[in-house]
Order: sequence, then structure tokens, then C-alpha cells
Amino acid sequence: MADQTGEIRKLTTLVEVSQALSGTLNLKAALHRALEILEAHHDVVRGAVTLLNEETKELYVEAASGLTTDGHRARSRLGEGITGRVIESGKQVVVPQVSREPLLNRTASRADASTRELSFVCVPIILNRKPVGALSVDLRFKRDRDYDRTVRFLRVIASMIAHALKVHRLVEAERRRLLDENIHLRQELKERYDFSNIIGNSGPMRLVYEQVAQVARTNTTVLIRGESGTGKELIANAIHYSSPRAKKPFIKISCAALPETLIESELFGYEKGAFTGAQSRKKGRFEMAEGGTLFLDEVGDLNPATQIKLLRVIQEREFERLGGAETIRANVRLIAATNKDLEKAIADGSFREDLYYRLNVFSIFVPRLSERKPDVMLLADHFLEKYALEHGKKIRRISTPAIDMLMSYHWPGNVRELENTIERAVLVCDGNVVHSHHLPPTLQTAEASGTTMSASLKEAVDAYEKDLIQDALKTTRGNCVKAAKLLQTTERIINYKIRSHGVDATRFRR
Ligand SMILES: Nc1ncnc2c1ncn2[C@@H]1O[C@H](COP(=O)(O)OP(=O)(O)OP(=O)(O)O)[C@@H](O)[C@H]1O
Ligand SMILES: [Mg+2]
Repeated sequence: MADQTGEIRKLTTLVEVSQALSGTLNLKAALHRALEILEAHHDVVRGAVTLLNEETKELYVEAASGLTTDGHRARSRLGEGITGRVIESGKQVVVPQVSREPLLNRTASRADASTRELSFVCVPIILNRKPVGALSVDLRFKRDRDYDRTVRFLRVIASMIAHALKVHRLVEAERRRLLDENIHLRQELKERYDFSNIIGNSGPMRLVYEQVAQVARTNTTVLIRGESGTGKELIANAIHYSSPRAKKPFIKISCAALPETLIESELFGYEKGAFTGAQSRKKGRFEMAEGGTLFLDEVGDLNPATQIKLLRVIQEREFERLGGAETIRANVRLIAATNKDLEKAIADGSFREDLYYRLNVFSIFVPRLSERKPDVMLLADHFLEKYALEHGKKIRRISTPAIDMLMSYHWPGNVRELENTIERAVLVCDGNVVHSHHLPPTLQTAEASGTTMSASLKEAVDAYEKDLIQDALKTTRGNCVKAAKLLQTTERIINYKIRSHGVDATRFRR
């Protein structure tokens, strides 16, 4: 009967310990709780879980419980003391009478050895067939104790601890991996977007850099203006990543890319049930950018209703989620960009004047590429290197005629167009030099090459047509059928044109 109650008590303990170990990700707390449970149900007067640091081979007490904690040395080495030996050998140790074991140098137990004799049991914690720690307990001494049973029971608990340890280590490893990845990604972002990646040292660009440096230190709202493809987004990144907010999020929202109906929920988020389909609360970009920077790209395309809301946030630094009553304070730095003529938009009533003044606190004008010709070469070289690497090609330079062509072109699409041009050239280039015929026909047109004045319309069109054909043949490696398809014409016409322009199609075959 007594035996039966003993078994039931053990089972109850096991269930409770298992719950304690699986209920939390805080290993120390879980182990502590498990030891407390042991103490409550059995003759345990104190217990400890000692773990092995695999790298330093040092042992440390991860959790301890009991009347006193002396005797559990905070740190020791593998093989030292009884616990150290258990962990080294993977074999349990049972000391029926602590007072008779000199290795267990227990002051407390010696003092009242006659009245409070203790037994000591230490079992290894085994993970992947290797001892990684030990569970040790001091028990009230009992003359008729069945130590085999005690050991078996503690071994079960030790295996539960091993399992908890395994889960904990997996979670920890995953957390560390994510942390490392995060640090790595942030570093990568920083490298990608700090000043060093903005190419160009022309006068107009130097002015831009000066402005960026000036304004980055502050919390001032910045409005970046400039034509499409001039590098406004790059400048916005540079401001954030050289500001004191660099370690906080940089969140971008493109005001043009989102439909009017979505822009508010994207900016401010929504509460569950705010509208049909809102199944859970969602954070808006303002909330995501907390402590960091929110980049409002294409701000000129914002619809009037959202303009009012945005104005309110900028003025009061507060907003509400859609369908929510709670007012949220926003600590967010704003950078806006647009290629629109905002003054004109104000005049025709599509952009609020008050919002304009709020955004236009500090504005940076990014000059068009044709106003910074000295940068064309630097940018071309930069993109050549970038795309040659990306596409695994060994292209060393750009030929002089091709450089002339790049320099005399007016670049309506600015840096983006130059970037696309060079990437395309890298793709079609078969040697280690980019030649003029690797550049797109648009650059070889009369206007671009500065020959408009001297050439008649017929000559200009002919030259253009010849370029187009050569280009298509280049792309299709001299395959006339494919070239015809590319130019959306027939094979017959292509063959005729090839002959009349005196183009040698075989030249493109490789
Ligand atoms: N000074 C520069 N140095 C290196 N790369 C640049 C530079 N300026 C622009 N670029 C590159 O050109 C491309 C276009 O730049 P970006 O997207 O910043 O232009 P944008 O002004 O925002 O254009 P849009 O108004 O069309 O959005 C990007 O790939 C960018 O990396
Ligand atoms: Mg942009």
C-alpha cells in the first residue's frame, strides 16, 4: 500500500515536472520549478542542475533549490568533485551517508550530522548519447532506502531535462542565427546605402551630398525632388543610414503604387473588423517605422483624402488605426520624394498647399544626369563593373567611340536609363570591350550623336533603321528569322533591308 502511494506520488511528480519543463522557454526558471516540485513531493532537501559548457569544459550550476545552496560550487571543472566525475563518466553516483564521504565537503551536514544525516544522489543528463550535465539531490537519510529505484526515478527526470535542454538549445541557435542574419543584413543595407555607393563627384552632386550630411543629423522632414531616375531613393537611403536613426527601421511606401482605397490602411494600419476582410489587426507603415524613418515615395501622387490625414500626423505626430479609437504617438522621421511639379499641382488643386509647406521644410533637388556630365563616365564604369560581375563576364572597358556616344546623349531617363543601357551592353557584349554597337539604337540616333543638322531626314531614318537591324542581329546572333520576329517584321523585309544597308549578317554569328 505504502509502495503504491509512493508510485502514484512519483507519477504525479513526473507529470508536474514535465509540465514545468515544457511550459516555458526560460530554461533557468523551468529547471528551478522542476527542482521545487521534487522537493515538495519527496525527501529531497536540495537539488541542483549542473551543466557543462562544451567549449570551456567548465561546469556551472544552472539552477539550484533547497534550504541552503552551499556545497553547490558555482563553477568547477569537468572531472572535479563528484558532479564533475558524473558528467565526465556519464555514470551516476550514490552516497548513502554524506557525513562519511570526504569528497562531499558539506559544512552544513557535518554540523548536525547526527540529527540530519543526508544521502546524495547524482545522475547524468544525457543528450545525443553524451553527458551534458547532472542532476544532483540531497535526500533525507533513510536506512532502508531503495537507491536503485531512486536512481531510476531521477534518471527519468534527467532525461526530461535533457529534452528541455535540447529544445532550448535549438531555439537559442535559431534565435542567434536570426540575430546574426539581422546584423548581417543591416550591415549590408548600410553598405549598400551609405554615401560610398552614390557615384558622382560633379559640382551639383557635391551640393547634394553637403545637404544630405547637413540634414541627416536632424529630425527635419526632407523633400527630395528631381526627375525620374535621378537617384532620389538612393538619397533618401543615404539620409536615413547616416542619421542617428540608422539602426532603426527605414520603411518605404510608394504613394503611387497603391490604390487609393489601400493607402490609408497601409499607412496607418487597421484594427480587426475595421472592414470586411480585416481578420486581424495590422500595423501600418507609420507604426513599423517607429523610431526610424518613413520614406513617402511619389508623394505627389497622394489622393486628397490621405493628404489630409498625413497632414494631421505631421502636425500632431499622432494617428489612429483604421476602425480604432486609440491614438498612437509617432516618433518617425519623414522623407518624401516626388518627380512631380508640386507647385503646379497646388495651382490645379490636386495637392494641398498646407501639406506642401509641411513637407517642404528642407528640400534637396537631385539634378538630372545631363546637368552632371562628368558623372556619366564614373557611373558607366560603376555599372559596368557591377553588371559584369553579376553576369559573370570579363569586360574591362568601354571603347572611345562608345564613350563619346554616352557623353553626347541627353539621358532623358537619367541614371536609371544609363544603368539599363550598361546592363544591356554587358549582356550583348561578346568580348572584353563595350563597343558602340553594344549600345542601344536610341543612343546612335542622329540627335544623340550630334549629326542631326548635317543629315537629311532620309539619311537619319536610314541610319536608325540600320542600327536597329544590326542590334537585332546582334541579339539573335545573326539569325535573320529571329531578328525579323524581334523587329516585328517579315523575314522577306529583313533580308531585303540587310542587303540594301549592306549589313553582313554572318558577322554576328558565333
Ligand atoms: N548617383 C548614383 N550612383 C549610383 N547609382 C545611382 C545613382 N543615382 C541613381 N542610381 C541608380 O539608378 C537607379 C534609379 O535610381 P532611383 O530609384 O533612386 O531613382 P528615383 O529618382 O527614385 O526615380 P523615380 O522618380 O523614377 O522613382 C537605381 O538603380 C539607383 O541605384
Ligand atoms: Mg523613386
